[in-house]
Amino acid sequence: EQSHQIAQILSEFHLTREQLLEVKKRMRIEIEKGLSKSTQDSATVKMLPTFVRSTPDGTESGDFLALDLGGTNFRVLLVKIRSGKRRSVEMQNKIYAIPLEVMQGTGEELFDHIVHCISDFLDYMGMKNARLPLGFTFSFPCLQTSLDAGILVTWTKGFKATDCEGEDVVGLLREAIKRREEFDLDVVAIVNDTVGTMMTCAYEEPTCEVGLIAGTGSNACYMEEMRNIEMVEGDEGRMCVNMEWGAFGDNGCLDEIRTEYDHAVDDLSLNPGKQRYEKMCSGMYLGEIVRNILIDMTKRGFLFRGQISETLKTRGIFETKFLSQIESDRLALLQVRAILQHLGLDSTCDDSIIVKEVCGTVSRRAAQLCGAGMAAVVDKIRENRGLDHLNVTVAVDGTLYKLHPHFSLIMHQTVAELAPQCTVNFLLSEDGSGKGAALITAVGCRLRK
Ligand code: BG6
Ligand code: GLC
Repeated sequence: EQSHQIAQILSEFHLTREQLLEVKKRMRIEIEKGLSKSTQDSATVKMLPTFVRSTPDGTESGDFLALDLGGTNFRVLLVKIRSGKRRSVEMQNKIYAIPLEVMQGTGEELFDHIVHCISDFLDYMGMKNARLPLGFTFSFPCLQTSLDAGILVTWTKGFKATDCEGEDVVGLLREAIKRREEFDLDVVAIVNDTVGTMMTCAYEEPTCEVGLIAGTGSNACYMEEMRNIEMVEGDEGRMCVNMEWGAFGDNGCLDEIRTEYDHAVDDLSLNPGKQRYEKMCSGMYLGEIVRNILIDMTKRGFLFRGQISETLKTRGIFETKFLSQIESDRLALLQVRAILQHLGLDSTCDDSIIVKEVCGTVSRRAAQLCGAGMAAVVDKIRENRGLDHLNVTVAVDGTLYKLHPHFSLIMHQTVAELAPQCTVNFLLSEDGSGKGAALITAVGCRLRK
C-alpha cells in the first residue's frame, strides 16, 4: 500500500514521449515569439542578440582579462591567446567568494567587491599598470545593443543586488573601476556563459554552433540566421542568440506538467513565477524539489519514521554534488545512508532506498526536459538551413552535466529520440566561459582596429 502511494507521488514526474514532444513543440513556439518583433515584448524566451557574429578563426591573439560571474564560482582570469601555427590558449585564474550579503545587497557593493577582487588578482599577477582588454562573462539575461553594452533584464538564480536591473552592467563595472582610482581596464565585451562555452569549443571544432549550460542555472545559445533576428538590423550571415530558455513556461505553457512540488519550490524562491523551466531542470533547484517531496512523504509517514527534522526544513541542503553522490551506482545503500547522515538526516535502510528513488526521478525529468528543449533548438537550426539531416556539435558546461552520474546520458538520449533528423555531438567545454569571453574580446579588439 505504502509503496503504491510512493509510486503514485513519483508518477507525476514521469513524462511520456508525447508529453516531451509537446514540450519540444512549445519551446519552438516560444523561440519564434522571442525572435519576431511583434511578439518580442511579451515573449518569455527572450532570444537576446549577443553581437557575436562569427565563431573564432584562429587569428585571435593577445593577453586578456576575463571575469566570470554567475555560476558556482566567481573567477578572475588572465588568458593568453596565441595565433598562427602554434596557436594556443593559456589561462591562469583565481576563485573568489561572493558572500550572500553581497549577492543580495546593493549593486554598488556588488560591483565594488568585483573590482576589489580584480585588484587583488592584478597584484597577484604583478600587472596593475597594463590596462588590459577585459571580457566580462555575466551569466544573466542582458539586453545588448553592442558587444560592450548589456542592460540587465532581471536577476536570476541566487542574485538580487539592488539598482542593477535596467542598468548597463558594463557601465556599472566601469564606474566601480573609476571609484577605486587604482587601475584602468578596457571593457570590450559582455558575454553570457552559454556563449563563452560555445566560443571556446568552436575554437577547436568548427561544427560547434550551440552552447548549453546545465549547472546552477539552465540556458542555451546558438547561431541564428540574421534574417530571423528581427530585433537587429541586417539580413546577412548569422548571430549568436542567448535564448534565456530558463524563463520558458513563465506564461503558463508548462503548467500541465508542473507538480505541487514545483509550485512549492517556486513559491519559496527569490523570484516566484519566474524561470519556471530552469526551476525544473537546473542544479540550484533539483535538490529543493527533492526536499519538498521528502517533506511530503515524511508527513504522510512514509519516511524518517514520520519525523520532520530541522535539517529537512532547511532550504538548499541537497546541493547538486550530494544528489550526484546519492545517485551514483557505485554506492552501496550504506553509503547513501552515510551521506544522509552527513546532511543530518537519520535514515533506515528503507528510507535510503526511497530517497535514492526520489532523486533519480527528479533528475531524470530534468534531463528529459532539458533534452526536449535542445531537440527544439537543433531542429530549428536544421530547418533554417533547409536540410533533411543536420550534424551539429553542442558545447556543454555546468556542474549538473559534469557531476551527475546520469543526467548527461539521459539528456543525450532524449535529444536523439526527439530530434531524429539531427546527429548531435555533445562536447564538454570545461571552464569554457572565461576562455570564450577572452576569445570574443580578442575578436572585438581586432574588429575595432
Ligand atoms: C562555467 C562557467 O563554464 O560553467 C560559469 O565558467 C558558468 O561561469 C558555469 O556559469 C555553469 O556552471 P555552474 O554549475 O557553476 O553554474
Ligand atoms: C540563468 C541565467 C542565464 C545563464 C544560466 C546558466 O538562467 O539567466 O543567463 O546562462 O543561468 O548559468
